[in-house]
Amino acid sequence: MKKLAIMGSGKGSNFEAIAKYFKDKEVEITCLSDVENSPILKKAEKLNIKFKYLPFENNFEYFTKNKFDLVVLAGYMKIFPEEVLNLAKFINIHPSLLPSFKGKDAIKQAFLAGVKVSGITIHWVEKSVDTGKIIAQYPVFIDNSMSLDEFEEEIHIIEHKLYPIVIEKILEDKVFDFQDLMKSSCGGKCGSNKGNKGCGGNCES
Ligand code: GRF
Repeated sequence: MKKLAIMGSGKGSNFEAIAKYFKDKEVEITCLSDVENSPILKKAEKLNIKFKYLPFENNFEYFTKNKFDLVVLAGYMKIFPEEVLNLAKFINIHPSLLPSFKGKDAIKQAFLAGVKVSGITIHWVEKSVDTGKIIAQYPVFIDNSMSLDEFEEEIHIIEHKLYPIVIEKILEDKVFDFQDLMKSSCGGKCGSNKGNKGCGGNCES
């Protein structure tokens, strides 16, 4: 049985989508929140999923004692120190096409900037905010007639569809990086492959 922790500070709509997706699958979910009585914890209770109020300062101790195959951030509003990130694999979802529109209110930032394409990003978590290598992205197009509310709704629909699938692929160890794949096609050694673009461009000189 795989062990998954889902951490959030607020509404928990992504948590709910993930919990429903894994309902009859071999994955044990624990919902964690740094905000006591937050809606995400209430949702967990209602869905009969293990939940816990976990103050931010207790993260190190908790993840030292409790091991998870993956820790999923879904609307978690604080930044983890490296010592905590070293204790498990952490991923995050962000409602823009990173590296554009980092930080808070990314949906509104993108809309007000007038971009015609934004979207969602799922990425590994590093200690600086909204960086970390990208695992998956999906675009959302903003046409002239779209309101901010409609755009926001569309972003959340995509988040709820994509996040559970990406989580499942990570748990099955089926996520890979195209760059690594290209490099491994010549084992990282260029030798007679000089000029071979199939090696991620590494063999050109
Ligand atoms: C999502 O839009 C996610 O991309 C961002 O925070 C929001 C969390 O929403 N990181 P919810 O708590 O899952 O409803």
